[in-house]
Amino acid sequence: MLFECYQWKVERVSPVIAANFDAFLSVTPTHNTVMEEKQRETGTGSLVFAINGLRFEVSSVSPSTTLLEFLRAQTPFKSPKLGCGEGIIALSFAGGCGACVVLLSKYDPVLDQVEDFTVSSCLTLLCSVNGCSITTSEGLGNSKDGFHPIHQRFSGFHASQCGFCTPGMCVSLFGALVKAEKKDQREPSPGFSKLTVVEAEKAISGNLCRCTGYRPIADACKSLAADVDIEDLGFNSFWRKEETREAKMSRLPVYDHSLEISTFPEFLKREIKSSPLLDSERYSWCKPATAEELQSLLKSIDADSKTRMKLVVGNTGMGYYKELEHYDKYIDLRCVLELSSIRRDEEGIEIGAAVTISKTIEALKEENNSEFNSECKIVFKRIALHMEKIASEFIRNTGSVGGNLVMAQRKHFPSDIATILLAAGASVHILTGTLHEKLALDEFLERPPLDSKSVLLNVKIPNYAAVKNISSEMDSKLLFETYRASPRPLGNALPYLNAAFLAEVSCLKSSGSVVLNKCRVVFGAYGTKHAIRAKEVENFLSGKILTIGVLYEAVKMVKANVVPEDGTPSPAYRSSLAAGYLFDFLFPLIDTSSKIHGGWSDEYCNTSLSEDAEIKQKYSQLDHVQLPTLLTSSEQVLELNHDHHPVGQPIKKIGAALQASGEAVFVDDIPSPANCLHGSFVHSIKPFARVKDIKFKSKLLPDGVSGLVSVRDIPKGGENRGCTTMLGTESLFADGLTQHAGERLAFVVADTQKHADIASNLVEVDYDIENLEPPILTVEEAIKRSSFFEVPLSLYPKQVGDISKGWAEADHKILSAKIKLGSQYHFYMETQTALAIPDEDNTMVVYSSNQCPEYAHVTIAKCLGIPEHNVRVITRRVGGGFGGKAMKAIPVATACALAAHKFRRPVRTYLNRKIDMIMAGGRHPMEITYNVGFKSNGKVTALQLDILINAGISVDISPLMPRNILSGLKKYDWGALSFDIKLCKTNHSSKTAMRAPGEVQGSYIAETVIEHVASTLSMDVDSARNINFYRYDSLKLFYDFAAGDPAEYTLPSIWNKLAASSSFNQRVELIKEFNRCKVWKKRGISRVPIVHQVFVKPTPGKVSILSDGSVVVEVGGIELGQGLWTKVKQMAAFGLSSIKCDGVENLLGKVRIIQADTLSLTQGGITAGSTTSESSCESVRLCCEVLVERLAPLKETLQGQTGSVRWDELICKAYMESLNLSATSHYSPDFNSMHYLNYGAAVEVNLLTGETAILRSDIIYDCGQSLNPAVDLGQIEGAFVQGIGFFMLEEYTTNPDGLVVADGTWTYKIPTIDTIPKQFNVEIHSSGHHRQRVLSSKASGEPPLLLAASVHCATRAAVREARQQLHSWGCMDESYSTFNLEVPATMPAVKELCGLDSVESYLQWEMGRKSRLG
Ligand SMILES: Cc1cc2nc3c(=O)[nH]c(=O)nc-3n(C[C@H](O)[C@H](O)[C@H](O)COP(=O)(O)OP(=O)(O)OC[C@H]3O[C@@H](n4cnc5c(N)ncnc54)[C@H](O)[C@@H]3O)c2cc1C
Ligand code: FES
Ligand code: FES
Repeated sequence: MLFECYQWKVERVSPVIAANFDAFLSVTPTHNTVMEEKQRETGTGSLVFAINGLRFEVSSVSPSTTLLEFLRAQTPFKSPKLGCGEGIIALSFAGGCGACVVLLSKYDPVLDQVEDFTVSSCLTLLCSVNGCSITTSEGLGNSKDGFHPIHQRFSGFHASQCGFCTPGMCVSLFGALVKAEKKDQREPSPGFSKLTVVEAEKAISGNLCRCTGYRPIADACKSLAADVDIEDLGFNSFWRKEETREAKMSRLPVYDHSLEISTFPEFLKREIKSSPLLDSERYSWCKPATAEELQSLLKSIDADSKTRMKLVVGNTGMGYYKELEHYDKYIDLRCVLELSSIRRDEEGIEIGAAVTISKTIEALKEENNSEFNSECKIVFKRIALHMEKIASEFIRNTGSVGGNLVMAQRKHFPSDIATILLAAGASVHILTGTLHEKLALDEFLERPPLDSKSVLLNVKIPNYAAVKNISSEMDSKLLFETYRASPRPLGNALPYLNAAFLAEVSCLKSSGSVVLNKCRVVFGAYGTKHAIRAKEVENFLSGKILTIGVLYEAVKMVKANVVPEDGTPSPAYRSSLAAGYLFDFLFPLIDTSSKIHGGWSDEYCNTSLSEDAEIKQKYSQLDHVQLPTLLTSSEQVLELNHDHHPVGQPIKKIGAALQASGEAVFVDDIPSPANCLHGSFVHSIKPFARVKDIKFKSKLLPDGVSGLVSVRDIPKGGENRGCTTMLGTESLFADGLTQHAGERLAFVVADTQKHADIASNLVEVDYDIENLEPPILTVEEAIKRSSFFEVPLSLYPKQVGDISKGWAEADHKILSAKIKLGSQYHFYMETQTALAIPDEDNTMVVYSSNQCPEYAHVTIAKCLGIPEHNVRVITRRVGGGFGGKAMKAIPVATACALAAHKFRRPVRTYLNRKIDMIMAGGRHPMEITYNVGFKSNGKVTALQLDILINAGISVDISPLMPRNILSGLKKYDWGALSFDIKLCKTNHSSKTAMRAPGEVQGSYIAETVIEHVASTLSMDVDSARNINFYRYDSLKLFYDFAAGDPAEYTLPSIWNKLAASSSFNQRVELIKEFNRCKVWKKRGISRVPIVHQVFVKPTPGKVSILSDGSVVVEVGGIELGQGLWTKVKQMAAFGLSSIKCDGVENLLGKVRIIQADTLSLTQGGITAGSTTSESSCESVRLCCEVLVERLAPLKETLQGQTGSVRWDELICKAYMESLNLSATSHYSPDFNSMHYLNYGAAVEVNLLTGETAILRSDIIYDCGQSLNPAVDLGQIEGAFVQGIGFFMLEEYTTNPDGLVVADGTWTYKIPTIDTIPKQFNVEIHSSGHHRQRVLSSKASGEPPLLLAASVHCATRAAVREARQQLHSWGCMDESYSTFNLEVPATMPAVKELCGLDSVESYLQWEMGRKSRLG
């Protein structure tokens, strides 16, 4: 047991925070038990802190315990979530998602000041919060005492979907708010804070959200900013667009910035004053105050060789390094005077090693550093600006500069700080025993790894002006610039390479040439042990007049010097980045005569390649991209339909505020029942091998372990069943033979999740591959060995038209062109989780985060060999699914049930991110070969495709893939279409449904074919798209009855509307001009249509009216964040209101949707395919029809008697007359429906780095008549951004055995706020009446994801421009316009196509041009 004893007392603090305790005390069953049993007086020196104003005293705890672990396991405060990391345990890769962010407040009794900052609670060690106050989202406000304006704004701006990320987002914003309010700044207008728009956006730049697409979150945050233009804020439930500014402001939930935000309780202040120190012996936590104390402490530990000790500051290093070692003692360096202070003198600035990165940034940015001249200040400012891109605010707030440098020195961490400080000429001060050493940073980095007892005391950044060559007779100038290329500019991404250059240059006034007196050229993080100075380059450049020739030589030298170590991904890309950055730094200095007239202009210093003012100005008219903010204002156009009120109204998502405050209960938030055990999977690392034995490494069971569950534990009469679908089954555990890396082998069960996770790492598996065939790891191999899954004939799509005729009509043919598409991971923020509780009479209740509880129910019954009526699966809400919580959630629930059955105790699991990623399977990778015939005008006459789908080891939903691919692919009229699609069975994890499975690939293939046709004919792609659009008759040919009526074919009108609303043609012209004038940046634009066929599935519903007139609704559909419950609620209110009695206009407030329970509502089916909201709505409408029919005679009678009748009276009377007020239905649709959608986007590509920025996206989406436009808007934006992830960012990589290696937030990059379109306009097109659909609505969950292909197409357009330019420099042959841009189009992929040696090519070309000119 970790926590021997703790107690809490309540003392009222601020009205905001303190008022909320009672609400939580009532929900703390486990907490109270522990407390009552073990409470004792602990005396002074105890670990004492406050959480949401509540006093906590922990008398004994392991020093490696994290704050998150404590919060989630021992307090009622569940709003901090675990989103990344390997469990709540100290062997994690974590810190990268922000779901666990809390506010930490410290009190300085001397200054009587409170300091507040956000931290990631998953990395913060509990002992380090002694004397601190912690505020979580439920501490800001809650349902009992009132939500905080932040919660209300998140809810009103529709900024919470599944809600798993929302509490962390709210606290990140709150942290920024508290910080801003302390600033000495102009008073904001009433209702606003001192926060700026830029700060508001940056506040959440380190937080991940997989549902919303960030735009509404940004709006909710910006709504508090002093400088926000309220008209720029997006669609919300507070005001109507046409209202005045004043009216809008008055409708925002009140935020009163003058009310002091108190985050620190008075009792704790008093306590700190009287007894501030922690008993170091009891907690194994030492906190020396001076270097001397530290020295003697280290000395005493030195004498005791058995004590394993760790120096610690912010402990964020644990986010990166997996540390299995146990430490007996921690030495907290944060209070050591010498390590925690910042000193300035005329020689520079000395930063204590324990100073946080945030504090360092503040110090370096300080304007009134009078010791330093402006050049020096610029160096400091550049360093600070670079540091702002490191990690995220909540990491920088605790991560120290010294910790970072020690990680770089000792473990070769790809540090930014080492690179930039090395270029700035920094030195370090080290203490080893009694030996003090001061050495240059490069010397420090090159030394053997620092031993665990050596301490880095400080780092000194010199005042360069003081050491500059003042004897130089020329007017000299110091230039300093830093660079970093990373997949996400701000959001928590390590760089591919970073660089920093410092140069002292002089201007030869006579010629305008520049002499480089001396320089420091530093590169790091590129797959090198540590940051290096490229000394050969420095020596070569020093003293030279900068010319193109000199730069060319220097760039070549850089390429030769900056060579990543073997095994580093994208090595050539990294070297070329280095060359590009040096070029960017030095090129503007060549031939500066036109820019500098007799001296340096101030602006020139530290500007990069000059911008063309004219173009910039023109662009600003359309783009607004020059703002310092991450996003510009976006527009949402929605048409409200009042025909079926309240259906069609943009009401807030049910429970959004509850999700924001963190009170919404996810499976892992359900308190553990008594005796609960926790499970962790052991998986195979071999793709095909016999499993001879699975056992723990040591003979004794590891700490807390109850045992292993494996195939041997399947009870008699049960089956080894992990998943059941209509298409096939999957085993729960490997049985003797493992068939893919990542396969479930066993389930370790222990007393805590931590112990289970640790123990699963201690399991040894004995594999044997003797005499086994090699595994099938590629689709080619599958073909060779005829390893396929069958696709039932009914699911296999039909060929269209006469392909031979199509070939005969073609003027041109492209033969055997290839496309390769990879996988994508769902990255739901809540990983797979379940809780199984055995009940009386051999029954089992399982709480599961699951998209298809019915299938889990069946599987569990089969696995345990019990009748289905003995199983009950309950799902209330799911923290994001996207298809990943369909089939893949079932084995997780089943394993818990099997373990619960075996041990006769409740068993739960919450998969850590790594295991989740390994087991998830993800999207289907595929290889496509196509032949296409077309006319000279671009009209395609025949398309023939061979598609090889890698389905993995079991069938899952794979037989649906051919149909889905074709559904997306048929968006153009191909004349004739023939195809051969094979589902390859391989030794990979089974691939599964992921949002728009197959459709997204199909739609992308279609665009690739069209672009190929266009480039072959040298025609404009947009014209090629136009010419291949359907007419209604050809649409009918391809889509048959799903085409609907001619009036429903809305695509052509949407296509034209988009051209107008996005100024498409104007923008095309501007982009041409931009590309003509810019050498190193190119832009592309693309307009992409989609046609997406969806299938409505049968769904049950149940509506019951209770005696007080309130209504309870159950539906088959699961609330995954997509707003299903909200739409259902609206529909129930609408359906019942047709009884037309008084009070039905308020029915919305009387309806509650309750969790799915497979014994209460059977045949729930699966929530997938975008249509479950509408089918659930329809089943509810049918129930309401029945109820209204039953109530109508009574209503007539009552109305006849009294003239009018109120809803509650009617129901009361109905109860008295024993009317059946519960109705069930099973809606079974008899049609298919189609969607027509459309979109355009513009993308800018930086040719030096391969970086892409999406400048603007315009979407017009046909939602029929939306059931709830706010919900649909969220689905459109969220899906589109997830699509951006697929097309631009997310690489779900495996090792050669097929084991997933992109297994955490460090390696797998989903979009963050800085990678979404800067301007993001969405119009929900209301296409009126659709006879066959649910109240004329259309689905919105998946199709918009396909539209993100436009970003990829626009990138391709920009890359084509770059290649044309290379061609014009003579570096590329005529085939420049034919190329294949990979999916995802990552920075290395883009750069490679734009020329890894483009800089050298350009310089060579320039040299040639100059010599030709003489
Ligand atoms: C999600 C995330 C993203 C990140 N992104 C980046 C990035 O983009 N660029 C970048 O450069 N860094 C990045 N980092 C690294 C981050 O800057 C470091 O984790 C942080 O600075 C370490 O400081 P700390 O105080 O938390 O160190 P700790 O974790 O407390 O310590 C780290 C190690 O250094 C030792 N140590 C600490 N201080 C001293 C000292 N004074 N003397 C001797 N030994 C000491 C400790 O014993 C430990 O071994 C990221 C980290 C995280 C978690
Ligand atoms: S769980 Fe702490 S940052 Fe992800
Ligand atoms: S709402 Fe952000 S992850 Fe679901």
